Formats: sequence, structure tokens, C-alpha cells
Amino acid sequence: MSRTNVAAPSESSFLTDIKTLRERARKHIEEGAVTEDYKADRETVLRLLNEALATELICVLRYRRHHFMAKGINAEPIAAEFLVHANEEQAHADSIATRIVQLGGEPNFNPEGLSTRSHSEYVEADGLVDMIKENLVAERIAIDSYLEMIRYIGDRDPTTRRVLEQILAVEEEHADELSDMLHDQ
Ligand SMILES: [Fe+2]
Ligand SMILES: [Fe+2]
Repeated sequence: MSRTNVAAPSESSFLTDIKTLRERARKHIEEGAVTEDYKADRETVLRLLNEALATELICVLRYRRHHFMAKGINAEPIAAEFLVHANEEQAHADSIATRIVQLGGEPNFNPEGLSTRSHSEYVEADGLVDMIKENLVAERIAIDSYLEMIRYIGDRDPTTRRVLEQILAVEEEHADELSDMLHDQ
């Protein structure tokens, strides 16, 4: 007789059996992607994600302002790069909003209080060098806050962690590019 449906002892010792998994999945179906095995504090994760969303939106606005206002002999390639960054920050905002909804929350796009919820600041800056410096400061703030969020989440919510890690890698590229620009001035 074959015993194909019986899990090997090494598997059953750490895996939840299929029947329990399926029952749990059916029980709270309205919770969408959030299952009983979700180990993080969802309210805290949602609050952190909404702060990150506000940060990204402020970065979109600051980079766009700088894109249109950059003037001077070296301005053209830098203005173009500011626009590239603005669009990448918008993509970050979108992936954060997507994750908030997956976790059963609501993305906060309310312009009221946006700059208070954001970690980074909206600084208009005067001249190309100041613009580059302000953007570098904002990127460094974003890098620190993403690192902190990633450490907080640990292995309790791998999907959110992966979203944040992907964003973090781009913020590090941004900071690196800005610091190169600053050295060229
Ligand atoms: Fe970003
Ligand atoms: Fe960035």
C-alpha cells in the first residue's frame, strides 16, 4: 500500500497541516491578504506605511518644483534628473498605497497635514546647489526611516518588508547620484 498522503515526520513537525491552513483561509475571507498567520501589528504597519506614503508624496512635490525651477549653465541635465527622481518617488508612493490596501487599510492622500505626516520636508531651495543639498538631505531621511521600518518589521511581514527594501535600494541610488552632482558643482 502506498502512503502518499501522509506527510513525512520532518515536514509535519514545522508545517501547519493542509486542512487547518484551508480552514483558516476560509474563516476570515473578508480580510483579503491578511491571514491569521500575519505576525505584525497591522495598525502600526499601516501607520508607518501612511507616513512613508506622505514622505514619498512630499518628495514628488519637491523634486517637481526643483525640476521646473532649476536654472543656470549646469541646470539642464540636473533638472532632467530631478524629474526622473520625482517619477520614481511617485512609483514608490503607488506601491506603498497598493500595500496599504492589501493590508486592509486606506492610503491617506489628504493634502491637509501631508507635510506633518511626512518624514522629509518640502524645501523650495534657492539655486541649483541648494536644491541638490535639500534633496540629498531628504533622501538621507528617507533611507534612515526605511531602514528603521525594515528593522521593525523583521520577518513578521515579508511582503511589506520586500516592498520597503526595493524602495530603499532606489533611495540609496538617488542619494548617490545627488552626492555625485554636488561634487561636480
Ligand atoms: Fe522614494
Ligand atoms: Fe528618492
